[in-house]
Amino acid sequence: MGDSPGTEEAIKRWDRYADLFTAGYDANGDIHREVLLNPVLSRLVEPIRDKKVLDAGCGEGYLSRIFAKSGAIVSAVDYSKRMLEIAQNKTAEDLNIRFYHGNCEKLDCFADKSFDLIVSNMVIQDLEHYRDAIKEMYRLLADGGTFIFSILHPCFVTPNSGWERNHEGEKLYWKIDNYFYEGVYDQVIPREQPDKILLFHRTLSSYFRAIKDAGFIVDDLIEPKPSAEMLKKYPSFKEDLRSSDFIVFKLRK
Ligand SMILES: C[S@@+](CC[C@H](N)C(=O)[O-])C[C@H]1O[C@@H](n2cnc3c(N)ncnc32)[C@H](O)[C@@H]1O
Repeated sequence: MGDSPGTEEAIKRWDRYADLFTAGYDANGDIHREVLLNPVLSRLVEPIRDKKVLDAGCGEGYLSRIFAKSGAIVSAVDYSKRMLEIAQNKTAEDLNIRFYHGNCEKLDCFADKSFDLIVSNMVIQDLEHYRDAIKEMYRLLADGGTFIFSILHPCFVTPNSGWERNHEGEKLYWKIDNYFYEGVYDQVIPREQPDKILLFHRTLSSYFRAIKDAGFIVDDLIEPKPSAEMLKKYPSFKEDLRSSDFIVFKLRK
């Protein structure tokens, strides 16, 4: 926790750790995306065929590829050049995706009302100027358009939150601390490096205010839980039934 090193430093770290961060990704992203986020996002984006979609903070691009395979016309933007390289290398040329280098806080490369749908998966908590980014998504949406974003759940994932364990190392309960702190803190990734990926914490009410001030209407709010099918495949996710790792907003312009 402390003074923010700023957006450019945050992106330098994304560039440095892009390969490491995405090493465990397959066509469905990582395991948390497969179990918790993708089922919610897939449901919320429908119908997506022929829609003009922006994947804001696309990372290595798995979601853009899923959307393009479902018939969407996809633009994908990220501020990390290394992430974009990985994304482009993983994307077949015949898929309907155009990649852009840009900062989600100010996307001058796109005109007003360019998109029917914007999805930003696990990005807004990585942005120092999150209020600007939410306003920017409003500008980029056609009237009636939808903005869906997922973040770490700010009520449960806070600076210094984590499992309390007994002497044997068994998990007792999930501890929350510093909820009202607003600002930068270090992500745990990568464990072995001193310079971590940066995260920003804000309270739920600050997110709500940013959404309202931008002009959005809240259509849905989801705290993803693993399905019975996913629990059978990955039994360790039973722990996710004790608190919520993520929250997903569906907003309308
Ligand atoms: C946690 S990753 C999520 C990537 C992808 N959406 C996914 O779900 O796999 C966050 C991504 O946001 C990008 N990012 C961080 N700050 C950004 C900014 N200001 N503008 C655009 N992208 C940014 C990072 O480079 C990284 O690719």
